[in-house]
Amino acid sequence: MQEKQQKILFVCLGNICRSPTAHAVFRHLVQQENLLDKIYIDSAGTGDWHVGKAPDGRAMSAAKKRGYNMEDLVARQVAHNDFQEFDFILAMDQDNLYNLQRIQKSQPSQYLGHLGLFLEFADNARTKEVPDPYYGGDNGFEQVLDLVEAASRGLLNHLQRKMAE
Ligand code: 4NP
Repeated sequence: MQEKQQKILFVCLGNICRSPTAHAVFRHLVQQENLLDKIYIDSAGTGDWHVGKAPDGRAMSAAKKRGYNMEDLVARQVAHNDFQEFDFILAMDQDNLYNLQRIQKSQPSQYLGHLGLFLEFADNARTKEVPDPYYGGDNGFEQVLDLVEAASRGLLNHLQRKMAE
């Protein structure tokens, strides 16, 4: 049994819609499995416009209707240090991933963790990207939740297999 805590960072552009939703949904699942001491969860944005702000009200109310609480979350920007700290850095879309790869390449040391798209962990997902809901209607936030719920289950299964090694 691997004892090392696994640290997961979810990343989108603003850290007010998609990545805090992933943070809250995945945290809920991890809490249900009683694994919060083994899996550390955080989220961040590649941009800095919303640093210090609460998640978008539309994201919070859509999440709340499904039983997820994200009111405690506060937006922050991705930091260089995240590449030393996190075992998994999971981007919501290809643009976020490209920006993260650029930050990673500017680092003196090689990143030894897993940098990729969050939806790679979703079984049967029609898409590999979580669409940005910021400028759209309420349906976009429901779609974010559907995709994030599927990928969260897949990610937890992956981590449980890894921790059982
Ligand atoms: P997020 O959504 O990346 O899922 O948090 C966005 C939030 C804010 C903006 C764009 C996307 N914005 O342009 O301010």
